[in-house]
Amino acid sequence: MENQPTKLTTASGSPYFEHENTMSVGQRGPLLLQDYILHEKMAHFNRERIPERVVHAKGSGAYGTFTVTHDISKYTRAKLFNEIGKETRVFLRFSTVGGEKGSADTERDPRGFALKFYTEDGNWDLVGNNTPVFFIKDPKKFSDFIHTQKRDPYTNCKSATMMWDFWSLNPESLHQVLILMSDRGTPDGYRHMNGYGSHTFSMINADNERVWVKFHFKTAQGIKNFSNDEAVKMKGLDPDYAQRDLVTSIDKGDLPRWNVKIQVMTEEQAKAFRWNPFDLTKVWPQGDFPLIDVGTLELNQNPNNYFADVEQAAFAPAHVIDGISYSPDRMLQGRILSYPDAQRYRLGGNYEQIPVNRCPFAVNNYQRDGQMRVDGNGGRSTNYFPNSFDNIVADESYKQPAWDLGTSVADWYDRNAPGENDHYTQPGNLWRLMTPEQKINTVNNIVGAMSGIDGPKRDQIVNLQLCHWFRADLSLGMSIAQGLGINMETLQGAMPTQHA
Ligand code: HEM
Repeated sequence: MENQPTKLTTASGSPYFEHENTMSVGQRGPLLLQDYILHEKMAHFNRERIPERVVHAKGSGAYGTFTVTHDISKYTRAKLFNEIGKETRVFLRFSTVGGEKGSADTERDPRGFALKFYTEDGNWDLVGNNTPVFFIKDPKKFSDFIHTQKRDPYTNCKSATMMWDFWSLNPESLHQVLILMSDRGTPDGYRHMNGYGSHTFSMINADNERVWVKFHFKTAQGIKNFSNDEAVKMKGLDPDYAQRDLVTSIDKGDLPRWNVKIQVMTEEQAKAFRWNPFDLTKVWPQGDFPLIDVGTLELNQNPNNYFADVEQAAFAPAHVIDGISYSPDRMLQGRILSYPDAQRYRLGGNYEQIPVNRCPFAVNNYQRDGQMRVDGNGGRSTNYFPNSFDNIVADESYKQPAWDLGTSVADWYDRNAPGENDHYTQPGNLWRLMTPEQKINTVNNIVGAMSGIDGPKRDQIVNLQLCHWFRADLSLGMSIAQGLGINMETLQGAMPTQHA
């Protein structure tokens, strides 16, 4: 009945009357084991924490809608794009990368931009960042790189020495490091930044023809960044700044939006491209591969419960759908394996049944059992394939065209192969595009960050990293060297030749 109070119950639903005082022997005596409610409360509390994400632990999420505004069916048969005006529900989680779950939102860091589209052909996860490139281009380096972004094993503090040591020995990181050191490394919340699928993906159309694509999400709120000083101050004032900003703006009805665009490269163009088109440290110049309008993304619903939906969300680059697929990007290939593995550990083997992860359309397969199986487990239906009982078919129409990779030779990566070892042209171009104010801020941020390098290898690390800045652009190198108070004559003698 409407005005009837709701009764307090145990987890198994039994009403009880005493929530604050444990049953004891007499008024002041020891407690009785038979007060099961005490045990239930304490035991459940002890199990409240699940492992935080090994990266991107601090994040914020919201539901929203993707709406098609332009016809891209000549590139893809993916059903979510098949009609102008078509709407698809999405869940988007933003994050920082290196910090723990309680870390500050305004740390200098890339921001995660992970999207789940609930489509009729299954959930499609586009797990990108707010930057179009990344620090490394081989997945084997990922755990080493991330260790440098976490805590020093001895001091248990973040270490500029670890970070710059790794970056200086991996010049492929230069493009992403330059973006990170600009004010784009400290965005003003999550609403004022772009998102990128970052990798090269493929799109396949109804005629089974493939093109390579990159995804862009341009903020309709306009780009807004914090200066380094503002970001540092905000860490103390409101470490949850970006979370608060997102929740309150959606609650107020000030709904954040992004314009969704793609870049398209044909297989022939890919063969002639100056760089490896599957290299995650490179962008595709927009002069050669212009942005094509696709649709709009709007966030319009805060989740009712943070843990249920945001903490338990599981995004995986492995989750593609008909009409959208992978590419030979080595990083993407590595990520296909990594995410579901992490989520089976973090959330359990049946994590795809957690409501935020569950496909709202038909899911038919022969996976059964396992811990926390809560969806009826297929009921009486047949649990093996092939069988003579059900009518589940493997539909050949979902088959993709074969890849023409021009080789059948498996080999280790050759860092000196044509198009593979130019780590400097694109960062140099980016630097030359910056306004004078952006250049000043970026150099100050780099000088500030590199000033934290210490220990016996300091000079070696600083000099090696300076060489990379110089190779990107002479004026960039000079400004940083001056800012660090480096004597140019000493530097010339120290210029290393390896890792070029
Ligand atoms: C080989 C390279 C990489 C590996 C092995 C890797 C691995 C991981 C793992 C294990 C997680 C935690 C997953 C979870 O527990 O749910 C994660 C989260 C994430 N990664 Fe990566 N990652 C890689 C590169 C990248 C790149 C290149 C991007 C962006 C372009 C990216 C974006 C993200 C995002 C946004 C999240 C958070 C997803 C969420 O909000 O739940 N990662 N990564």
